[in-house]
Amino acid sequence: MIHCDVLVIGAGIAGCAAALRAAELGASVLLIAKDRLGDSNTAYAQGGIIGLADSTDSPELLAKDIETAGAGLCRKEAVDLLATEGPRLCRDFLWKRLGVPFDLNAVTGEPETTAEAAHHARRIYHVKDATGEAIQTALSNKVANHPNIQILTAACLVDLITVPHHSTDPLATYGPIQVKGAYLLHYSGEVVAAIAKRTVLATGGLGYIYMHTTNPGGATGDGLAAAYRASARIVNCEYMQFHPTSLFIPGRQRKLLTEALRGEGAYLLNSDGCRFMAKFEPAEMELAPRDRVCRAMFEEMAHSGKSCVYLDLSPLTAKMDLGKRFPTVFRACNAEGIDPLREPVPVVPAAHYFCGGVYVDLDGRTSLDGLFAVGEVACTGLHGANRLASSSLLECLLWGYRSAQAAVEDCKHVSMSDTSALRPWQPVVNPVTPDPLLIEQDWNSIRSTMWNYAGILRTKDRLQRGRSDIGYLYHRIEAFYKSAPVSRPLLELRNGIICARLILKAALQNSRSCGCHFRLD
Ligand code: SIN
Repeated sequence: MIHCDVLVIGAGIAGCAAALRAAELGASVLLIAKDRLGDSNTAYAQGGIIGLADSTDSPELLAKDIETAGAGLCRKEAVDLLATEGPRLCRDFLWKRLGVPFDLNAVTGEPETTAEAAHHARRIYHVKDATGEAIQTALSNKVANHPNIQILTAACLVDLITVPHHSTDPLATYGPIQVKGAYLLHYSGEVVAAIAKRTVLATGGLGYIYMHTTNPGGATGDGLAAAYRASARIVNCEYMQFHPTSLFIPGRQRKLLTEALRGEGAYLLNSDGCRFMAKFEPAEMELAPRDRVCRAMFEEMAHSGKSCVYLDLSPLTAKMDLGKRFPTVFRACNAEGIDPLREPVPVVPAAHYFCGGVYVDLDGRTSLDGLFAVGEVACTGLHGANRLASSSLLECLLWGYRSAQAAVEDCKHVSMSDTSALRPWQPVVNPVTPDPLLIEQDWNSIRSTMWNYAGILRTKDRLQRGRSDIGYLYHRIEAFYKSAPVSRPLLELRNGIICARLILKAALQNSRSCGCHFRLD
């Protein structure tokens, strides 16, 4: 059993920012990394993070862009908070304090800004096209060297420890649900109870439940599923964002091709080499919000009967050295034998970012006492029905920072739990070792069901079919989980199917198309 003031589960930008801030304020912090420290979805972010721009920008203009992309469903207080406090925090904390090596403007010496779709100012700080990796490296180094932070790597969340669920006192049933920490599986096979005054979920997203995604394999919705099992309020699950441009190579995993390419002037072409966006978005063309670009691409593919469209980078060649500015994109293309300087790159949309999540307030507090959530697992309401590009890293940073401050303040008034009143971890009795082929096949079923029935274009019939298929699978997976030794593959599978159910249920209940939830019927 481990005790700490603040338990932070997840070590991407949101988790590291929360851990660091809480530690700086004097709290003892336990930070959990699902793989090695530094391996996170954050490290995959290419384009950048909204930073402090020049006088052509303003908090009002940024707020307007976020709200327009969010299709009218953004929470105003969250938007105003991010627009007024976020860009300065990005500059001062990430650049000045942590030394993130943003590309600099040769004249001003300030971080250089780039453009992205649906932004009406150049306000994106970037480190070439590997911004997330640079931010993650700086944060990982900082948390690794902070004396108040203990790091447990190669460990994942099993379940939140809550009263009354895990209490030995039957009378606890009459009190509110309180989060006391979490059971964590270390991949050595040991389940560790981490008892904390405050727990921060920073477990990231769930893109892996879709057949085609820009997310890594660990994005299985662990925190969302655990919060759901603990009865936290979960909202906006129908709003799964798809990124318009992932590299399309049949049979291969999709790879993100950053939004900044279109921001800087790249065009979308159909298989006849024609620029088709004028038909769908005559005003904004390729720079319309992501949901609208994805739908236009889908319609164009349906019309032509082809499996992809193309991204033409040639308009950029006159103004920059493309290989230097976008080395990650070039590596991804070259690895598939594509030279983006000579030929348009085949692209399709892929599941990218979950705009729903565990409901939180402006300090990251969830509906459960003792539990905070930050980053992609949380829903602050900032993104509404569709997220503006490059706003997520900033949201992670700001809410990570703020939740830590609120959690540390709480710790002053909360005493450490009496662990004798909590039930210890109960392993499965007489476990049966699961067949890996069954786990793999269950994943195939989840991922293809979600892609086909809860993807970019939805109908009642598709969603109903998806819900009944996933519902059937859910019962089988729960039974499987209860009969087998706890393991990472099984935990992820169990979490993935819960997230799939949440998305299907929300999508079916909401017959109104909005942002990235689009109903054809
Ligand atoms: C991108 O570079 O296009 C991804 C960044 C984001 O999703 O905000």
